[in-house]
Amino acid sequence: MRILFVGDVFGSPGRRIVREHIGHVLDSQNVDLVVMNAENAAGGFGVTPAISDELFDLGVHVLTTGNHVWDKKELIEYLQSAAADSHERPRRIIRPANYVAGTPGYGFYEGALPNGQAYAVINLQGRVFMHSSDDPFRVADALLKQIKAKVILVDLHAEATSEKIAMGWYLDGRVTAVLGTHTHVPTADERVLPGGTAYQTDVGMSGPYDSVIGVEKELVLARFLTGMPGKFEPARGDARMSAALIECDGGTGRAYSVQRIQLGE
Ligand SMILES: [Fe+2]
Repeated sequence: MRILFVGDVFGSPGRRIVREHIGHVLDSQNVDLVVMNAENAAGGFGVTPAISDELFDLGVHVLTTGNHVWDKKELIEYLQSAAADSHERPRRIIRPANYVAGTPGYGFYEGALPNGQAYAVINLQGRVFMHSSDDPFRVADALLKQIKAKVILVDLHAEATSEKIAMGWYLDGRVTAVLGTHTHVPTADERVLPGGTAYQTDVGMSGPYDSVIGVEKELVLARFLTGMPGKFEPARGDARMSAALIECDGGTGRAYSVQRIQLGE
């Protein structure tokens, strides 16, 4: 079984480059399952129902998010419209599972491909240098007790490399992949851990690289140089799609390989 995980889609340049490349990657690599982090897909801040439809139309099965999940109010209502046992599109957009109990939406999705292959996707958020949330390690333990699928992909949306690597080791042998998102910079440390879990600290942004992590570099520089507030705008140039391609055993969920992918214009 082959899984494509696409890193943080950032604004319209990110959506455009993903649209340009995803079709030929899915065909040439015989991809079965597609998961994408979409928390910055709407102009760099959040995702709307209309934009999520655009991404689902590309063949995506599950959209993950992170700290920007609440940026667009219409998404909150959209997430609340889905019943826990639904398989419709709003239920296939997930937010970090370790948010406070009662938060809109769901932190994981469990489904099956048309051929019957079961899979699950878990979204978690780190706690180091981020807003406070529940313990992602204990929340992962609790979710793994209730998930029946063997093929399980974890998107850990986190700032610190140490926290992400620690989660990789913690879940090694218990999930198919632990993939980091949020920093927007792909790391060159993809590997399969000894227990059979594919791991990469950060898959990287699918968006404009002529930028500071997606934002117009002049605006970010001005913030660093003056400390003055100012509105951040998404950059436009040098769009690239960053992704990880994982091959695993559909029966056991054990990963065989993980490959880093980056495709430009
Ligand atoms: Fe983020």
